[in-house]
Order: sequence, then C-alpha cells, then structure tokens
Amino acid sequence: MTAKRKPAVPARRARLADVDALESLENKAFDGDRLSRRSLRYYVRAETVVMRVMKEDGALAAYSLLAFRKGSKIARLYSIAVDPAFEGYGLGRALLKACEKDARAAHCTTLRLEVRIDNKRAIALYEKNGFERYDEIEDYYEDGATAICLKKAFA
Ligand SMILES: CC(C)(COP(=O)(O)OP(=O)(O)OC[C@H]1O[C@@H](n2cnc3c(N)ncnc32)[C@H](O)[C@@H]1OP(=O)(O)O)[C@@H](O)C(=O)NCCC(=O)NCCS
Repeated sequence: MTAKRKPAVPARRARLADVDALESLENKAFDGDRLSRRSLRYYVRAETVVMRVMKEDGALAAYSLLAFRKGSKIARLYSIAVDPAFEGYGLGRALLKACEKDARAAHCTTLRLEVRIDNKRAIALYEKNGFERYDEIEDYYEDGATAICLKKAFA
C-alpha cells in the first residue's frame, strides 16, 4: 500500500463544474454499476444529497455521495470513490468522516451503505471505521454480485 499521508485539502461540496471530472473518476474507480453523467449532474444539485469532492495535486481525486430521505433519521452513503492514482492516501477515510459529520449535522442517527461482497478494500475501510454488517442482498449488482449491508449508529 502507498505510504499514508494526511489529505492536503478538506472535502468541499461538489459543483456543476466538477461533473466532467466526476464522470472520469467514476469510470476509473468502478468496473460496473457506474453513475451516469446525467445522474451525477442531478446529484450535484439535488436538495436531499450532499456530494463532496477532494482534490490532490490540482486534480479531482475522490468524491462521496450521501443521500437523505425526508422524515428519516437514516442517511445512506450512496457512493464513495477514490481515483486509483490516489488510493491509500487516506482520502477514503477522510471522506467517510466528512459524510458522518454531514449525517450528524442533518440530525441523522444512523449511516447505512451497501458494498460488493468481494470489495475487500472498501469493506476494510468501513469496518475499521465502526460500520457493522446487518444484512446481505443477493443479486444486487449488475453482474449478479451480492451486496453486504453495513450500518453505523451514532452515539
Ligand atoms: C474503497 C476506497 C474508497 C478506499 O479509499 P482509499 O482512499 O484508498 O482508502 P484510505 O487510504 O482512506 O484507507 C482506509 C482504509 O482502507 C483500507 N485499505 C486501503 N488500501 C487498502 C489495500 N490496498 N488493501 C486493503 N485495504 C486497504 C484499509 O482498511 C485502510 O485503513 P488503514 O490505513 O487504517 O489500514 C477506494 O479504494 C475506492 O475508491 N475504490 C473503488 C471504488 C469503490 O470500491 N468504492 C466503494 C463502493 S461501496
């Protein structure tokens, strides 16, 4: 793994001007089940979503997408991705922390997410940061892979 260093720039809210870079990052980070450009444009502006980005060396290196539902205290981490060139630098962990902060600020008490059963790296990130397994959903992804459902309740 690349040597760890603290991300230089804190996560900021995504803007429409980031959509090109977000689309390129989505293509680099995921093999399937990608968010379309249209969805990315929608989420950047959606009122029930907080989308954050992090830059490294002037390039958009990571993003997260946190979704809320009216009347629900459960926030959902819908997506998180780090450019492979910047993996292992701590960006994933920093974004996860920012999402947790956003969820708390929105008065949510739980953060939930789904992750591919074979995505060891992401599962390690979540479990090291206090997420626990509570369910599995078969045939969740485009290629039929199972999803593990994880949640973190805030104190
Ligand atoms: C999963 C992902 C977000 C992790 O981001 P990252 O910036 O590389 O992660 P960090 O550097 O913050 O590392 C956090 C933890 O991830 C895990 N991790 C990081 N690199 C790893 C590797 N090469 N092998 C195994 N685990 C690894 C470790 O648990 C690490 O914690 P540690 O440093 O205390 O050991 C990133 O790899 C990614 O975007 N992958 C592709 C998209 C994806 O799968 N998104 C998740 C969808 S649910």
